[in-house]
Amino acid sequence: MEIKTVGVLGCGLMGSGIAQVCAASGYKTIVREVEQGVLDKGLARVNKFLNDGVEKGKVTAEAREKTLANLSGTTAFDDLKGCDLIVEAIIENVEEKRKTFAALDAVVGEGTIFCSNTSSLCIQELASNTKRPDRFAGLHFFNPVPLMKLVEVIRALTTSDDTYQKVFAFAQSLGKEPITAPDKPGFIVNRLLVPYLLDAVRAFDHGLGTVEDIDKGMKLGTGYPMGPFTLLDFVGLDTTYYIANIMFEEFREPAYAPPPLLKRMVLAGRLGRKSGHGFYKY
Ligand code: 3HC
Repeated sequence: MEIKTVGVLGCGLMGSGIAQVCAASGYKTIVREVEQGVLDKGLARVNKFLNDGVEKGKVTAEAREKTLANLSGTTAFDDLKGCDLIVEAIIENVEEKRKTFAALDAVVGEGTIFCSNTSSLCIQELASNTKRPDRFAGLHFFNPVPLMKLVEVIRALTTSDDTYQKVFAFAQSLGKEPITAPDKPGFIVNRLLVPYLLDAVRAFDHGLGTVEDIDKGMKLGTGYPMGPFTLLDFVGLDTTYYIANIMFEEFREPAYAPPPLLKRMVLAGRLGRKSGHGFYKY
């Protein structure tokens, strides 16, 4: 079955970005949120990104119009019934995802492929909780979705060859560079990135240097686009803490153990850019 219509679940930072790149690549895209207010906010984010892109000369006015024409929002599962592929990008909670996929299983056709954008949950667990474990894969995007070229494609034990190939080709059709990652916490990128970020927090806590100097060191000394603390604030300290806990639970290796300072910053509400205060103030 050819993929023509794509559903996206969740219109937060990741969901809205995923919906945007699908619509920009010519897919009729329907994004579903639980509340109209959250949906409107997510669609406004897409609008702003496209308008900024036009202003910067990176997006043509024609491409913006085409993207917006391909994109619609809904709060009803029923509106996703004609989708050939659905990407889930809702809250990182197995039970919430299970309920959402169950509601979809009841309305979509036999051939519809389900993908999850989870950054850390077990793809097999999500797949096994649906009626289509063979038509289920992980499809992990990076923030900011419209700018980051990478997508990780994750096969569960039950993912069929046909599904894997279709999902991989779908990622390529979005103009992304897919890689195949194992169904293990953190996949490839977060498996290496998260211990590095946690190490930066530990090193700072042990007096290695100031936040600014460590960031400057890694940015100018290694060519990373952002130093570790700028990136932690960008990704969200709560998100990093959550992923680290899942990785530590599974691997039981000290490298994945969240440092005490990170836990305390999360408890204090210093979540990074989204809360206006993390390692930096915004
Ligand atoms: N429309 C189109 N293009 C745009 C745009 C827009 N609205 N806004 C910016 N761009 C383009 C710019 O024109 C520029 O293009 P160029 O390279 O051809 O000149 C490019 O995008 C970069 O934009 P800026 O110059 O405005 O900004 P920066 O150079 O500072 O880059 C960044 C911003 C891409 C976010 C960069 O800082 C970066 O790569 N940071 C690291 C991000 C990262 O590591 N993300 C992954 C996090 S981990 C994750 O997501 C996994 C999850 O599971 C936790």
